[in-house]
Amino acid sequence: MSRICVVDDQPLMRDSLSETLRRDDHTVEAFENAADAVERVVCGEFDLVLSDLKMPKMDGVSFLRTLRSRGCDTPVIMMTAFGSVATAVEAMKLGAFDYIGKPFEADAITVQVERALQHGRLKSENEALKASLHDLARPRTMVGDSQPMLQIRRQIAQVARSEATVLISGESGTGKELVARAIHAQSRRTDRPMLCLNCAALSGNLLESELFGHERGAFTGADRQRKGRFELADGGTLLLDEISEMALPLQAKLLRVLQEGEFERVGSSTTRRANVRVIATTNRDLEQSVTKKRFRGDLYYRLNVLPIHLPPLRRRGRDIRTLVDHFLKDIAAHAGRRHLNVTGDAYRLLEEYAWPGNIRELENLCQRAVVMVNDGSLTSEVVRGWLQSAAASLLTPLQLRPGRMLEDMERRLIEDVLAQNNGHRQRTAKTLGMGVRTLGMKLKKWREEAEAESGRAGVMRPHAPEPALAGAG
Ligand SMILES: Nc1ncnc2c1ncn2[C@@H]1O[C@H](COP(=O)(O)OP(=O)(O)OP(=O)(O)O)[C@@H](O)[C@H]1O
Ligand SMILES: [Mg+2]
Repeated sequence: MSRICVVDDQPLMRDSLSETLRRDDHTVEAFENAADAVERVVCGEFDLVLSDLKMPKMDGVSFLRTLRSRGCDTPVIMMTAFGSVATAVEAMKLGAFDYIGKPFEADAITVQVERALQHGRLKSENEALKASLHDLARPRTMVGDSQPMLQIRRQIAQVARSEATVLISGESGTGKELVARAIHAQSRRTDRPMLCLNCAALSGNLLESELFGHERGAFTGADRQRKGRFELADGGTLLLDEISEMALPLQAKLLRVLQEGEFERVGSSTTRRANVRVIATTNRDLEQSVTKKRFRGDLYYRLNVLPIHLPPLRRRGRDIRTLVDHFLKDIAAHAGRRHLNVTGDAYRLLEEYAWPGNIRELENLCQRAVVMVNDGSLTSEVVRGWLQSAAASLLTPLQLRPGRMLEDMERRLIEDVLAQNNGHRQRTAKTLGMGVRTLGMKLKKWREEAEAESGRAGVMRPHAPEPALAGAG
C-alpha cells in the first residue's frame, strides 16, 4: 500500500482516478490546486505524485520545478491532454518520472503507477544500502567458546527472536557492534538494512538530523531535504553507539520513537511512523549516569529491556588463544601472507596481558605481526616488546608542551618504534626513515633532559609499571 497524491483541477478526473488507485489498495489524497499540495509533498508524505499538466493557478511544470528546487525527489507522473506532448517532454527533462496522455484506461495508469512506485522503493533501498556500505568491507566471524562467550551466543539467539530494544554494555573493543550485527542477522529483519550511528561523534543538532532527518532550510547549511536513520532503516535495525553521550533533549525524542513509534524531521511538523528496531551500546555505566541525572531514567528502563553485558577479554580465558589463531589466519589470508606460527611462550605472554583495548587491541597486534614478522614465527621476545610499549603508552599519556609540541610527538613516535624493535637503533632509524646518528643524538638529548629534570625534582622519572606483564621477564 502506497501513499499517492493526485493533483487535477477537474473534479471528475480527480474522483475517477482516486477511485481507481484506491481499488489497487493505495491511500490517495486529491488536490484541486498544485500550490496546496506542495508543502505536503515536500515533507515526504507521498510516495508518488500524479499531476495534471495544464491547471489554471500553478501548472504541472512549475509544480514539478518547485518540488525539485526544494530538494524533493518524490517521483511524479504528468498527465497531459492530447496535443501538449512538447510540454510533457519538458516535464521529463525537469525530472518527471513518466507521462501519460489523457484520456487513459484504468489499466494503463495502474501499470505506470506500479512502475513509478517500484522505482521509488528501489531508490530508497539503494540509499539505505549506501549508508551501510562500509560494513561490507570485511566479513567478521564471531569466535570464542569460553563460558562467557557461550552465554553471549545463547543471549543473542534469544534476543533475536524478540522485537524489544537491546542494550549492549561492555568496555571498548569487547565486540558490542559485532554482537549487534549478529542479533540483526538472526532476526526477522535480516533482509532489511541495519544502520549505525555513533551518538558521541555528533553534536546535538546534527545528531538529531542524522537520526530523524531534516527539511530543506531547517537550519543553516540544510540546503536539501534529507532522510534520517529512522527512515532509512525502515523495517530494519538501528544501532545507536555510545548512547550515554546523547543530550537530554534528544533523549526525550528517542524515548518517544521507542514508545509511540513517532517522530518528526527537524524543521517539519509532519509526524512520521517508524518501524525500526533499536539496539544501543554503552561503555559507561548507564545506571550511574541516571543517578547523576545525565541520562533519563525512563529511557534507561526502556532500553534495558534486554540487556547483554560483554565481559572484558581478560575474563574470557582460553578465548585469547582462539582469537589469536583466528586473526592471524584471517589477516594473513586477506593480505596474501604466509601463515605465522606462534611459540608457546608467546601464547603465554598474550594470555597474561590485561588487554585494556580488548579484542580490538588483540586484532591490531595480530595485524602488526602479519606485516612485521618475516621469519614465519611470532616469538615471546617480539610480543614482549610490543606489549611493553602498549602498556607504557597507556600509562604515560602523551604530554604536549606549548612551544615543543612537534618535538614531543616526535619523541613519542621514536620511543614507540624503538620499543617495537626491542631497542635496536639501526632498525628503528630505518623504519622511521632517519639517520641512525640523528636518532642517537635525539635520544641522548632527551635522556640528559630527563636526568636534569629528575635531579631538580629530586625524584626518578616515573617508570611505567607493567602489572599485566608480571613474570614476563
Ligand atoms: N568474539 C569475537 N570474535 C572475533 N572478532 C571479534 C569478536 N569480538 C570482537 N571482535 C572484533 O574486534 C573488533 C572490535 O569489535 P567491536 O567493534 O564490535 O567492539 P565494540 O565493543 O563495538 O568497540 P567500541 O566500544 O570501541 O565501539 C572488531 O574488529 C570485531 O570484529
Ligand atoms: Mg562499537
